[in-house]
Amino acid sequence: MKILVTGGAGYIGSHMVARLGELGHDVVIYDNLSTGHDWAILHGNLVVGDLADRALLKTVLEAGNFDAVMHFAAFIEVNESVRDPLKYYRNNYANALNLIESCRDAGVKRLIFSSTAAVYGIPDGGGKVVEGTPLSPINPYGESKAMVEKTLRDFSAASDFRYVSLRYFNVAGADEQSRIGQAYDNATHLITLALRTALGKRDELNIFGTDYNTQDGTCIRDYIHVRDLIEAHVLALNHLADGGGSRIFNCGYGHGYSVREVVAKVKKITGVDFRVVETGRREGDPPALTADSTRIREELGWKPAHDDLGFIIKTAWKWEKLYWKKRESGEI
Ligand code: UFG
Repeated sequence: MKILVTGGAGYIGSHMVARLGELGHDVVIYDNLSTGHDWAILHGNLVVGDLADRALLKTVLEAGNFDAVMHFAAFIEVNESVRDPLKYYRNNYANALNLIESCRDAGVKRLIFSSTAAVYGIPDGGGKVVEGTPLSPINPYGESKAMVEKTLRDFSAASDFRYVSLRYFNVAGADEQSRIGQAYDNATHLITLALRTALGKRDELNIFGTDYNTQDGTCIRDYIHVRDLIEAHVLALNHLADGGGSRIFNCGYGHGYSVREVVAKVKKITGVDFRVVETGRREGDPPALTADSTRIREELGWKPAHDDLGFIIKTAWKWEKLYWKKRESGEI
């Protein structure tokens, strides 16, 4: 198939592009390189462009004759979205709308959307959510993604356009061959920050909140290896290519780890007893958020291969060490 991948130079997008290459698909990457890197593109042709540039999008989509679009390009910092909501509504919503309209104009009828567990906000009960759980985002990041989902739903209902929205839980880990991985300096994610602390790039790691109503007082999240997430996209692509209808799927393993458990595992794997400081809660953190992923397992036959926190951390650690080495030597 011929696929346009927006944000294909970023963390998750670059893993997708590499996998599409292995599967023999023809790929065009559309990325403004604001947070992505051209060295992370292991396959396909890069168009450096912004989703705000309607003229360029039109040219690329009309010339490409694409079978599907995979839309990864977005901002992802929850805290930043609270401080600067318009940045998120502009890029994550208005630019996604540009893309959807451009798909309509160019006759592209299949799209896979990178959504997020943040659309659920703070769920009731034990924190395990099914796709039918009402959307109740508590920050502009989650809201901007929920708005795209609603737009896709309504456009799909009104036309022959079909989409799959994948709600990512806590994506982590890196390519097993360490060719690509998280390469974002302003990363806010727990595993990345813990590893950077172990590596000495940061003085200490904060634990945000130890008074939650969870087994050890810290928040619980469903950490999913990037490679399993990518396989979910492959299945979603095949589903649409086979004529399947529009669907929404949670992407997580269905069980979680507390912040303390993650920190202990990172210390064990790296062998570094880095400094950890327990601080107050981070605003907007749900106590627990895990995926009920029955739907994607049953409907698409998703069988995760790396449901193992140790494996997630090991691949991320290997990558993190290599990444800083390459940066310091000027290779990237
Ligand atoms: N945490 C710390 N210290 C840190 C960083 C994080 O204690 O230095 C804690 C957070 O408070 C939270 C947990 O670790 O309890 C996980 O935090 P992350 O920032 O790694 O991830 P989030 O769960 O906040 O958010 C991530 C993505 C979102 C996505 C969400 C869905 O960043 O895009 O998962 O669950 F929406």
